[in-house]
Amino acid sequence: MTPSAPALAPRLAAAVEAATPRLGEAPEIAMILGSGLGQLADAVEGATHIPYAEIPGFPISTAPSHAGRFVIGRLFGRRAALMQGRVHLYEGWSAQDVALPVWLMAAMGAKTLVVTNAAGALNPALKPGVPMLIEDHLNLTGQNPLIGPNDDALGPRFPDMSRAYAPELRELARDAAMKIGEDLPAGIYAGITGPSLETSAERRWLRASGGDAVGMSTVLEVIAANHAGMKVLGLSAITNAADGGPEQQPDTIEEVLENAARAGARIARLVEALAPDLP
Ligand code: 6GU
Repeated sequence: MTPSAPALAPRLAAAVEAATPRLGEAPEIAMILGSGLGQLADAVEGATHIPYAEIPGFPISTAPSHAGRFVIGRLFGRRAALMQGRVHLYEGWSAQDVALPVWLMAAMGAKTLVVTNAAGALNPALKPGVPMLIEDHLNLTGQNPLIGPNDDALGPRFPDMSRAYAPELRELARDAAMKIGEDLPAGIYAGITGPSLETSAERRWLRASGGDAVGMSTVLEVIAANHAGMKVLGLSAITNAADGGPEQQPDTIEEVLENAARAGARIARLVEALAPDLP
């Protein structure tokens, strides 16, 4: 028997070859913009855009409000590569597809990944419209982007995940929040596959398992980033309650989008405050 996952190294090499000539200055910081965070791309100065469709072998987002391109330039004075739009397992992409853009940003030179997402609150203390600092995650997708042959030039076969969200970056985020007078609760992000939302029983089980927030992204990207030796800072925009209590009502999409925008604006201010201090 031979392994069946397509090897990562040749896929990545093709993507690097297409993207590198268009880069300009190599980015220091990689950032993934989740729902409600798209406006941060407008803050990039001297922006170069690379649509994912122009990179061979790249997954193309089908999710609503995901533009599907890299925005590369200066963000709050730092050289940055932003992903405006990401792809998800629930669209039918593989774990390796979902993580490929992260490996590409690492290959571009980025040493830090700032990952953002929209998430439901399992912890009733987290209110819709607030940002949550991700302390750690539960990968409940049943998948892993590292399955398949390992390329030792990219990273180790068995990467450590005990500090998946770098403690020093969490400290920086807390300091920045303090400086701008922002409350920044921290918690554990439970990553599920979707696209169906959790049952009420699943919400109570996720909460009992230590989850504070739940969403359908991030965990696979963070595995790839750690494999590539990047430091990760994670921020969730809490968009809705998901505590599984008896009074839980279905959320309207309007409420969710409004809360994503509110939390997103607060995350943008936080990133502005901490950008100068990022490694
Ligand atoms: Cl995966 N679940 C719930 N309940 N709310 C969410 C979510 C997931 N992602 C964003 N909001």
